[in-house]
Amino acid sequence: MNEKFEFGVEYYEYFRKAVDKSLDGTVIPGLNVCNHYVNLLGVNPNDRLLDLGCSYGRLYPVFANYTKQIFGADVDLQVVNEAIKNPYVIAIVGQAEKLAFPSNFFNHVVAWGVFDIVDQIECLKETNRILKTGGKFLFTAKGAHYPDSDCLAYVAERNAKLKNFPNRFIDLELLMQALPLLGFTIERKFHFSKRGDLGLNQPLNDLKEIQSNSFYEFVAILKKVTEPSGASVTQWWDEYSVTARAKAECEGFGTDVLGYFRKSFDADNPGTSKK
Ligand SMILES: C[S@@+](CC[C@H](N)C(=O)[O-])C[C@H]1O[C@@H](n2cnc3c(N)ncnc32)[C@H](O)[C@@H]1O
Repeated sequence: MNEKFEFGVEYYEYFRKAVDKSLDGTVIPGLNVCNHYVNLLGVNPNDRLLDLGCSYGRLYPVFANYTKQIFGADVDLQVVNEAIKNPYVIAIVGQAEKLAFPSNFFNHVVAWGVFDIVDQIECLKETNRILKTGGKFLFTAKGAHYPDSDCLAYVAERNAKLKNFPNRFIDLELLMQALPLLGFTIERKFHFSKRGDLGLNQPLNDLKEIQSNSFYEFVAILKKVTEPSGASVTQWWDEYSVTARAKAECEGFGTDVLGYFRKSFDADNPGTSKK
């Protein structure tokens, strides 16, 4: 159970299938949805854009609507070998936390479906380093306080954790407090109440729900305004959502969320053994 999750062939095959048909029936955001948000970046034809966590290059056609200066990076060699079938300027094997690109190089960095699974503080520092001042960082991420009624979100969180998938759930208020210390301002944010709403591009308009942090996913556009100050920040992410922690607590598992996940999985899948 404690083995590190590997982004390799198994994950790649899963992701390629999920793009067409996700396991739980929700829609993975397609190119049109991604394009809707990339369009807000104001990309100029000669701007350099990094497709961070580019996988097999699924989103290349979106970025190509705006610029030809498209670079890619992903941790997995196999997907990078697929990605380079698109005319990226270059696509490299590299980690969001430490990239072999020069400082102040990019006008835009896009991490679509990636920020959840990286070391977020190191990723923000590294993104700040490679962005020019005034450059934008667009990413999608998961909220820590998704509604208790969102069963699909809970099952997705539980099943991912049982496979050791490295999700991180964000308290957006805390992240926003940390951003100035990391050299960013937040330009735009869009919230999606339930799992699947981003795929349908149905953002939340209810200010009360937004203010109570009650959403499953969000899209954020940050702007680099300066370099990180070096001051320490309050941790805004957690390996479990607050929603799952509360369920575990309520069911008598205290802080043993994993134990609760195992029991809940067994109850939902009788006869299937899970480590
Ligand atoms: C959910 S896929 C999203 C791919 C692509 N952005 C898209 O939407 O089609 C996540 C990708 O992030 C990559 N990844 C995981 N950890 C990473 C890291 N630390 N740095 C860069 N890429 C990473 C995975 O290999 C995988 O290809």
